[in-house]
Amino acid sequence: MSTMNLVLHVWRQAAADKPGKFERYDVKGVSEHQSFLEMLDLLNERLVEEGVDPVAFDSDCREGICGTCGVVIDGRPHGPQRATTTCQLHMRHFKDGDELTIEPWRAKAFPVIRDLVVDRGALDRIIQSGGYISIRAGSAPEANNMPVAKECADLSMDAAACIGCGACVASCPNASAMLFTAAKVGHLNILPQGGAEAADRVRNMVIQMDAEGFGHCTNHLECEAACPKQISTDFIAKMNRDFFGAMLGSKKAVSARKAGDR
Ligand code: SF4
Ligand code: FES
Repeated sequence: MSTMNLVLHVWRQAAADKPGKFERYDVKGVSEHQSFLEMLDLLNERLVEEGVDPVAFDSDCREGICGTCGVVIDGRPHGPQRATTTCQLHMRHFKDGDELTIEPWRAKAFPVIRDLVVDRGALDRIIQSGGYISIRAGSAPEANNMPVAKECADLSMDAAACIGCGACVASCPNASAMLFTAAKVGHLNILPQGGAEAADRVRNMVIQMDAEGFGHCTNHLECEAACPKQISTDFIAKMNRDFFGAMLGSKKAVSARKAGDR
């Protein structure tokens, strides 16, 4: 098993109101089979033994589904591998002697809590403003009571793949949350079950997104490139159309769901 030695420049910041700076760490004996977070675990074990505060970073599932992890590695949210969360990034993609810069998500709406951990509560508040269906549905209905066109089901599933990690925000020069919000609006508005509240949903979620201080989309498309779930920016175009329809009071603009309609 080959191992490698790395030089890390890690952002250290004790609290949101404290100044931060990069600290240099030499990490030796990293296995190519370790994940990026396991490599940080290795560093932290050593720091604890030395009586130094370990580097704070977020993680939970460590299998690419919860959206909790995420750091900027050499300027790229989630690092160099496309469609890969930080927890699923393996050290075989790096080489012995590499010097890496590791930072938290940078966005005004994501204040740093400590080191590499940021507060992504703004994304939760966008969901709270409309990312649900409020109708009491009772027990699970028979599956074929409300037929859903396969194209709509597939498109909704594509949007529902968003894990809420925030890499789209971190990658955007405007710190825009349009891709996240569009995915969360889209996966419900595309389905017939989401149609009744579609206009209110898109209006409220976009208003909340703006209130949280995220920037606007100016079509850099960095979000789509950084997204570990490869959410398409087509959903942003669809959300814009739904939003303008909702603001103009046209129910038709947000409720008519046809196959292939984004
Ligand atoms: S759209 Fe992609 S990058 Fe943005 S929060 Fe969802 S999964 Fe993460
Ligand atoms: S820890 Fe859950 S997606 Fe990375």
